[in-house]
Amino acid sequence: MRSGVPRLAPLRGRRGGPGVREAGGGCAMKSVLFSRFFILLPWILIVIIMLDVDTRKPAPPLTPRPYFSPYMAGRGGARLPLRKGGPESGPGRSSQKSNESGPHPPPQPEPPLPTIYAITPTYSRPVQKAELTRLANTFRQVAQLHWILVEDAAARSELVSRFLARAGLPSTHLHVPTPRRYKRPGLPRATEQRNAGLTWLRQRHQHQRAQPGVLFFADDDNTYSLELFQEMRTTRKVSVWPVGLVGGRRYERPLVENGKVVGWYTGWRADRPFAIDMAGFAVSLQVILSNPKAVFKRHGSQPGMQESDFLKQITTVEELEPKASNCTKVLVWHTRTEKVNLANEPKYHLDTVKIEV
Ligand code: UGA
Ligand code: MN
Repeated sequence: MRSGVPRLAPLRGRRGGPGVREAGGGCAMKSVLFSRFFILLPWILIVIIMLDVDTRKPAPPLTPRPYFSPYMAGRGGARLPLRKGGPESGPGRSSQKSNESGPHPPPQPEPPLPTIYAITPTYSRPVQKAELTRLANTFRQVAQLHWILVEDAAARSELVSRFLARAGLPSTHLHVPTPRRYKRPGLPRATEQRNAGLTWLRQRHQHQRAQPGVLFFADDDNTYSLELFQEMRTTRKVSVWPVGLVGGRRYERPLVENGKVVGWYTGWRADRPFAIDMAGFAVSLQVILSNPKAVFKRHGSQPGMQESDFLKQITTVEELEPKASNCTKVLVWHTRTEKVNLANEPKYHLDTVKIEV
C-alpha cells in the first residue's frame, strides 16, 4: 500500500486535530471522538485499499507486444531484455543503448520496419498442429511478421484454416501438392511449397515499389530464438548465420574473416557452394523481386543442394552478410520431432467425441 500513509494523515488531522479538541474540551468528548474514529477506521482503510488498487498498472494484454525490433527508441514493442549489457550482449550493438535518463530529443520519423515474410511449408501428420502451435507462439512475438503458410496438399485443410484464423498473426494460407513421384525418401522436400510462397510474394509486390522486407524459409519443426528475427531484419541482400543441430554436428556455420564469409564449418558435403541449411539465411524482398526467375528446382537438384541451387541464382559467397556476431552464435536449431507412437490407437470402440489433435 504505497499511498496508505500520506492519505491517512490528513483524514486524522480533520477528525482529531486541534480545532475539534478546543471546541469540545472534556474527557467524554475525547472518548466519543475516539470511538467514532475506530468505527470509521475500517471504512477508511477500505477506501485507501480501493484507491491503491485503482492506481496500479493495468494487467498486460493477453497478446504480448512484440519484443524485438531493430529500432529501439519510440516503438512500443521494442523492449530488449537480452541486450542490456548482459552476457547476451554482442559487439556492435552500442548504438542501440536505450536513452532512459537523458533529456528526450524531439521525436524523429522512424524508418518503416521491414516486414519479415516467413514461408513455412507444412504437411498433414499427427504432430502438425503441435508444430504450428509452437511456431505461431514464436512468430506472435515478432513485430511486423507476415506468415506465409503453404500446405503440401491438394486443398487447404480445415485444421490449418481454423488454426490460422485463431493464430492472431498476419498470414497468407496457400496450398500446392507435391507430385506423387517426388514423395520419396532421399528427394528434396517442400520444393513446390516454397516456390508457391515466392510466387505469392512477387505477385503481391509486382505493382508497387517494394516496401522494405526480408524473406526467410521457416520449416515448421525447427526452433527459432526471438533474437534471430532481430538479426535478419537488417538484411540488405542475403544474410547468413549458424544453424544448430544439423549436418551431423552440433552446428554448422559460415566461417567469417574481416566481416566476409570465407568458407563453411560443416561435416557434411563440404563441397556445397553454400554449405548452409534452409534455416541459415534470409533474403531481402528487393533481391527476390529483382531476380524473378530464382526458384527451387526439382530438375538436377541433388540431395542437400536445394539451398545452394537457390542461393547461386541470387548471390555470391563474397556478398553474404554475416549475422549473429560474425556467425558465432546459434539462434536457430534444426530440431526434428520424433515420429509419434500411435500403436494403441483403437480400431473399434472409438472415443464418443471427435477431437482435433
Ligand atoms: C532438411 C532441411 O532443413 C529442409 O529445409 C529441407 O527441405 C529438407 O531437409 C529436404 O530434405 O528437402 P528435414 O528436417 O529433413 O530438413 O525436413 P522436414 O522438416 O521433414 O521438411 C522440411 C519442411 O517441408 C517442413 O516444414 C515440412 O513440414 C515440409 N514438408 C515435409 C512438406 O511440406 N511436405 C513433405 O512431404 C515433407
Ligand atoms: Mn525439419
